[in-house]
Amino acid sequence: MSRFSGWALSAALLLALGACIKKRPPAEPAPSAPSAPAAQTSGSAEAPTGKYGQVQGVELSGGIKAFALQGKTERASVSMVPVDGQPFHEALRAEVKEKSGNTWDVQVATRVAKPVTYGDVILATFYVKAEASRQESGEAQTELVMELARPPWAKSVEYPVRVGHDWSKIYVRFKAERSYAAGEAQLIFRLGYAPQTLQIGGVTVENFGKQLVLADLPTTKITYPGMAADAPWRKAAADRIEQLRKRELAIVVQDKAGRPVAGAEVVVHQTRQAFGFGSAVVAQTLLGKGNERYKELTAELFNTAVFENNLKWQPLDGDWGSGWTVDVASKGADWLSAHGIQTRGHVLVWPSWRNLPRSLKRLEKEPVKLRAAVNAHVTELATAMRGKLVHWDVLNEPFDNHDLMDLFGDDVMVEWFKAARAADPNAKLFINDYAILSGGGGDTPHRDHYEKTIKFLIDHGVPFDGIGMQGHFGAALTGPEDLLQLLDRYAKLGKQIWITEYDVELEDEALAGQFTRDFYTTLFSHPAVGGILMWGFWDGAHWRRNAPLYRKDWSLKPAGEAYRDLVLKAWRTDEVAKTDAAGTYKTRAFLGKYALKVSSGGQSKTIEVELLPAGGPVVLKLD
Ligand code: G3I
Repeated sequence: MSRFSGWALSAALLLALGACIKKRPPAEPAPSAPSAPAAQTSGSAEAPTGKYGQVQGVELSGGIKAFALQGKTERASVSMVPVDGQPFHEALRAEVKEKSGNTWDVQVATRVAKPVTYGDVILATFYVKAEASRQESGEAQTELVMELARPPWAKSVEYPVRVGHDWSKIYVRFKAERSYAAGEAQLIFRLGYAPQTLQIGGVTVENFGKQLVLADLPTTKITYPGMAADAPWRKAAADRIEQLRKRELAIVVQDKAGRPVAGAEVVVHQTRQAFGFGSAVVAQTLLGKGNERYKELTAELFNTAVFENNLKWQPLDGDWGSGWTVDVASKGADWLSAHGIQTRGHVLVWPSWRNLPRSLKRLEKEPVKLRAAVNAHVTELATAMRGKLVHWDVLNEPFDNHDLMDLFGDDVMVEWFKAARAADPNAKLFINDYAILSGGGGDTPHRDHYEKTIKFLIDHGVPFDGIGMQGHFGAALTGPEDLLQLLDRYAKLGKQIWITEYDVELEDEALAGQFTRDFYTTLFSHPAVGGILMWGFWDGAHWRRNAPLYRKDWSLKPAGEAYRDLVLKAWRTDEVAKTDAAGTYKTRAFLGKYALKVSSGGQSKTIEVELLPAGGPVVLKLD
């Protein structure tokens, strides 16, 4: 049941209750619990009248200037700001300074001065853009609501919106789910989200009464630039993949006298791709009894993994209860290694008090001890995991996690990388942040800060190898061309790029599948990118219960089909062939590890080889 129908249901229940407690005629037939939220029902039963644009609606909102801050108003501030280049000249700028428990804790609202009748067809049109966001996706969030301005707050629409930093035009079509007398209803943009700054402008809410049906009205479909099947970027990406990720594999079969063996059967089976394909995993789930489907898919789908939480300082320090120990992480890495999976370390220093162990807070007034405690943690953990990890995220999300840099200055970051390198000379060291690829193209303060921070580390001789871009996406999807431009921008810094935490939070699974296919293809085609990990692959173990690949019941989502199609088939070389008269078989194969089996005259031989970016033919001598 959607939250929406729940409201209608509770309204009906209250009406019924009211009828029991005191005799009064219901204001109108108790609204039946709608089969689906009226808003955006593209499949509305009524055939379009075709009269949209020909009939006049009644304006219900009075424009964005009529909206005033309400609720826990200390958590946000609002102002009107001028706007250029849009069909409106000013917008409401809302700066949310503090996270709320409920999205309605703080909001902007306006009363609807006109009466609205049950079943009226209404179109809300407005523009929103993100200025700054703490959302992993770099997006700003709000939600349009029309409700009774008193209990039971009976709603006619609740429409969540996520946008990047370009102006997005949003259409929300809906029906009045009850009648509201003049002044009884209110229109709301909710602001109870993580700290963010957004602008809202060009607001109209037109009531067409019964002159139109929902299907007459425009609706907002989430798209991204370059999603068309014939988009030019596709061929260019395919050509780069062919050049970057493959090379000629020549297999020469000889007999023991060194003479070529013609017609020998050659089986080319790729056992591991050179490119990192991975996911966040939970060590306890890998090590625990059962969870067979989770384990077998981890082994089948990935050659790289990262622990979602097992190597974080808070749990290791006991903040999250028992079971979070280095030993569990170490055994988890052993399980992964035994299944041919390399492990990334996440994360040595996440430098904000909210992501540091509670025990550290008592050292806030003892800076020397505090600084030493952080360095000691880096050394101890990196030493304890030495030899088990191919990467460490040394520093996580410095854009809005900088309490330690504020205390000690940016040089303290240099210490953490040097301590990590000294403790583990082999693990590649990464910086990691979010909202770099997500939220649409162009420059943002977050992206500029990341580039500046990386340049600072380079200029200070920090020994690090990689740039992590988390890749948490919401409705503001970044198109392939913009992704490539962003990758080019950071590739200039001379470090390998890994996508460390991909996921895409969309209701529309088909769109999520299409974007996942295009995202992986784009990233796989860029020379600076070494690997892509998602932040969990199964809804049953995902921080937002909306993982890319598998639903809770282990059914495969469209994005899961796209992933399996690309990573297990299209981007893997498995061939069976015969050698030619010169005893040779040549093919273009994906870089990585292979089991090559050759057979002739009842004899066969299998060898393991690694196809590196450069190298000569593989010669196999039959005994
Ligand atoms: O399970 C314990 C519970 O037993 C205990 O009572 C409770 C006390 O707070 O903690 C519970 O642990 C929770 C843990 O996830 C395991 O479920 C923590 O509260 C909760 O804060 C923790 O959230 C993790 C979050 O990072 C903060 O560390 C998420 O699972 C994890 O997906 C998320 O991952 C981050 C990346 O590290 C960095 N990039 C963004 C990404 C998403 O926020």
